[in-house]
Amino acid sequence: MMLKAFCHVIQAFLDKVNYGYIFEFLKIRVINNLGADMLKKSYDNSLLLNEILESMGTIIEFDLEDYETHQHAVRVAEGAVFVAEKMGLDADTIQKLYFAALLHDIGKITVSADLLHKRERLTDDEYSQVKNHTVTGSRIIASLPGMTSLASWVRWHHEWWDGSGYPDGLKEAEIPLPVQILSILDMFDSIQTPRADRDPRQKEEAVRIITEQRGTHFNPELVDIVLELIHDSHVSISEKPHRDFAALKKKYVDVPFHDSDKNFWQSSNIESLYYILKLFADVIDSKNEYTRGHSTRVSVLAKILCEKMGMPHEDLLKVEIAGLLHDAGKVTIPIEILNKQDSLTEEEWAIVRAHTTKTFEIIGYSAALREIAFIAACHHERYDGNGYPMKLAKDEIPFLSHVIAVADTYDAVTSARAYHPQRSAEYAYNIIREVSGRQLHPDVVETLLAIPPKHIEGIVDMHISSYAPVQIS
Ligand SMILES: [Fe+2]
Ligand SMILES: [Fe+2]
Ligand SMILES: [Fe+2]
Repeated sequence: MMLKAFCHVIQAFLDKVNYGYIFEFLKIRVINNLGADMLKKSYDNSLLLNEILESMGTIIEFDLEDYETHQHAVRVAEGAVFVAEKMGLDADTIQKLYFAALLHDIGKITVSADLLHKRERLTDDEYSQVKNHTVTGSRIIASLPGMTSLASWVRWHHEWWDGSGYPDGLKEAEIPLPVQILSILDMFDSIQTPRADRDPRQKEEAVRIITEQRGTHFNPELVDIVLELIHDSHVSISEKPHRDFAALKKKYVDVPFHDSDKNFWQSSNIESLYYILKLFADVIDSKNEYTRGHSTRVSVLAKILCEKMGMPHEDLLKVEIAGLLHDAGKVTIPIEILNKQDSLTEEEWAIVRAHTTKTFEIIGYSAALREIAFIAACHHERYDGNGYPMKLAKDEIPFLSHVIAVADTYDAVTSARAYHPQRSAEYAYNIIREVSGRQLHPDVVETLLAIPPKHIEGIVDMHISSYAPVQIS
């Protein structure tokens, strides 16, 4: 959490402060934070699951300009825990409600930003695309083992008490009570949050609108209870973080997740870690068509290169995961910049470069993954020290980052991009040979070049077919 707070500071100053200074600071901080091997096989994955779910909850709002103060989902989640506890709901339900509230709009990652931020009235077709975030969100959550009820709560957060909601037209008690609570708090906070088409409104206005919707949108009795709780405690859930939340979080949220298959998540089996990280990578890829497939190919090629170099099994796992997540920070780059055909302005370049530190921030949220996060965040460092974000050189850069850099370069050259067509393996090999010892680590380059260019596509492809990626939509 310390690191997360620190990264937020970095983020806030990123556009204003001299890069050299900021990254020097980051470098010292990051290196101090490393040390122990974080990917211990005995790590209790049940808590990692919670951390990753929390991390996923932040992704949806990561690209907002007012990210620092926005965090609608966090406020709804905190408010929901507060209300659920006061209403005497059991601990398991409270925890599940927290995650459902945090992730209620996760399905919006598959809706285009233009549509989400559109000021004009949506067409019927556009509106049904936006509404579909409930279905997509539930599929994302349900792809993890043992998450059925959490997934269905996400699916039903736009159901109405009178049966006129979506996607399933549930009515009254058909809607589980926790979802009813979530819906009221979602509305309560949304009204007080600025939107593309309107300014934020006052708490009193939110109370008035919700009261008006007693019996139509919301369970009338529950409206009275929730509004009274909010009133009595003087809580404005729009003020974040709520002062008393830390204790509630410790009691209800930061405990092994009970809706899941405990044996699966608490086992020391690396498989459960893969499961969730692959989902995480898929969620990130689905947010942006531009990187779709790229992270999987980079991950596969990096792992192949490590195998060829005879590296230990643990390194193979680390490079695979770091490869999957290396561009996680790209969710923060506007699509117009990623797809721009002309050369970028200096300001746009700064935004592109920042995806590495954002990657660190997104993955490093979880202490268990901080080493992985660092490996991933260094994939644009150069062997000669002229890369970014920290201008590390040679051995200062984790060796696995050197491997990812080679795989990343190979895939970037051979994939069609907005500014260049698809190119052959031979073409990529020539470029990579040229920059060996300057941009890329010569040992890794040598390993790649030892694979005949005619073989490489097939080798990468055969590994990808065994991935069976999660279908997001
Ligand atoms: Fe929603
Ligand atoms: Fe990158
Ligand atoms: Fe990349």
